[in-house]
Amino acid sequence: MAKRRAPKRSDAPSLHSRLIHGVSRDEHWDYRHHVVPPLSSSTAYRLEAAARGARGFAEFAQEEQDPQRRRKAPVYIYDRLAEPTRDMLEAALAVSEGGETAVTFATGMAAIAAALGVTLQSGEHLVADQVLYGSTYSLLTSWFPRYRIGTSFGDLTDPGRLRKLVRPTTRVVYFESPANPNMKLIDIRAVRAEVDRLNRQRRPDWKIRIVVDNTFATPFCQRPLLLGADLVVHSLTKNICGFGTDMGGAAIGSRAFHAPLMNYRKDFGGVLSPKAAWPILVYGLSTLSLRVRHQVATAGEVARFLEQSAKVKRVSYPGLPSFPQYELAKRQMLDFDGHFSPGTMLYFVVGGAPAAAQRRAMKLIDHLARKAYTVTLAVSLGQIRTLVEHPSSMTHSSIPLAKQLKEGIDPGGVRISIGLEHPRDLIADLAAALRKI
Ligand SMILES: Cc1ncc(COP(=O)(O)O)c(C=O)c1O
Repeated sequence: MAKRRAPKRSDAPSLHSRLIHGVSRDEHWDYRHHVVPPLSSSTAYRLEAAARGARGFAEFAQEEQDPQRRRKAPVYIYDRLAEPTRDMLEAALAVSEGGETAVTFATGMAAIAAALGVTLQSGEHLVADQVLYGSTYSLLTSWFPRYRIGTSFGDLTDPGRLRKLVRPTTRVVYFESPANPNMKLIDIRAVRAEVDRLNRQRRPDWKIRIVVDNTFATPFCQRPLLLGADLVVHSLTKNICGFGTDMGGAAIGSRAFHAPLMNYRKDFGGVLSPKAAWPILVYGLSTLSLRVRHQVATAGEVARFLEQSAKVKRVSYPGLPSFPQYELAKRQMLDFDGHFSPGTMLYFVVGGAPAAAQRRAMKLIDHLARKAYTVTLAVSLGQIRTLVEHPSSMTHSSIPLAKQLKEGIDPGGVRISIGLEHPRDLIADLAAALRKI
C-alpha cells in the first residue's frame, strides 16, 4: 500500500480550517485572545486625540493597500466606514473566494448594486446573461436606465455571442452560474478568454470587467475569481449565513476594488450591521463546507428521484449526467478539495402545456405547503431547511411572462433549495405531493 505523506507544519492550512479559524489571530485585531471572535457593537469610536481622528479619516479604505499598516490595528471611526466584527468576516470571505479583498453590504442586492456602481458610469453599458435573479433583472431594467446605463441581455452559454453584444461603451459582463432559477451554467474560463480578446483593442482604463454572482454555487462549490472573474458577488443571506437568520451581501475581488467599494458603501450607506456579520462569521462561514457537502449529496439523491418520476418532464441539476452542461459542471464546480460539487439547488419542470403546467406546479407546491413535514414553501434559499418556490409567479415575477418563456423560466418550473433533512424524508414528501398532481 502506498504510504501517505504526513502533512507538514509548513503546509498551508486547508480552506475548511481557515474558514473556522479565519484571521482573528492576526496582530491586526485587538482580539488575539478570544477563541470566538467578539461581536462588537459601537457606532462610534473614541478617537483619543485630534491627530488620531485625522489619521483615521486619511487612512480610511487604504489599509489593504499597505502591508505594513495591515499588521496594525486600524483607527476605527464610525460603523458605516469600518468596524471590527465586519472586518473579520470580510477577511474570511476574501480567503473563501481566493480574493484579495471583500467588502460586505446590508443585502445581496446592495452588494450587486455596489459592484456595478463601481464598475459603471452614466453613459456606459453592460452585457448580462438573460437568466438572472428577478431583483437583479429589475435593477438593470427599472433603475439603471435612469442613470443612462444600458443593458444588453443575451445567452452567454455561448461566450462567442459577446462579440455581437458588446459595444464600445460596454464595461461589464455580468452573469450568475448556476443561474437562478433554471441552473444553466456559464463557462467562466471561456468568458474570460473571450473578454481578453475583446479587451486587447482597448485602453488599459477601458477594459471590460467580468462580475459573477456566485450565490447559488457558494465559494465551497466554485471560486469564480480563480477561473477568471474580476469581481464576485454574493447574497450572504443564503448558504453562507446558512441558517436563515440574517441578511447580507459581499463583493470580492482584487485589492484594486477595495477603495472604490469601501467609498461606495460609505456614501450609499448599505452597510452590513455587525450584529448580522457576527452570526455569518461565527456560525455560517465556519460551517459552510460541512453543511454544503451534506446538502450536495442530498441534492443528488433528490434529483435522481425526481428524474425517474413520470410526473416530471425535466430535472435541471448540474450533478445529473443528463444535465446538458454536465461536462462543464465537472470542470467548474469543484469543492475545496477538488471534488465535483454541483451545488444545493435544483429546478424541475412538471409536464403539460404552459397554463396547465403552471396549474400543476402550483398544486404540487400547495400540497407541499399543507402536508409536507420537511419541505417548506418559502422564497430564499441556502438554509438548513429545504425550501420550495414557484419562480415564475414569485422570485422571477418581475420578468414579463413572454420573456420568461423565451429564456427558460417555465410556468411549470419548481425551484428547490436542499437543506439538511434526511434525503429519505424529502423524497417521501415530494413523492406524496407528486402523486396528487
Ligand atoms: C442569485 C441571487 N443573487 C442575489 C440575490 C439577492 O440577495 P438578497 O436577498 O440578500 O438581497 C438573490 C436573492 O434571492 C439571489 O438568489
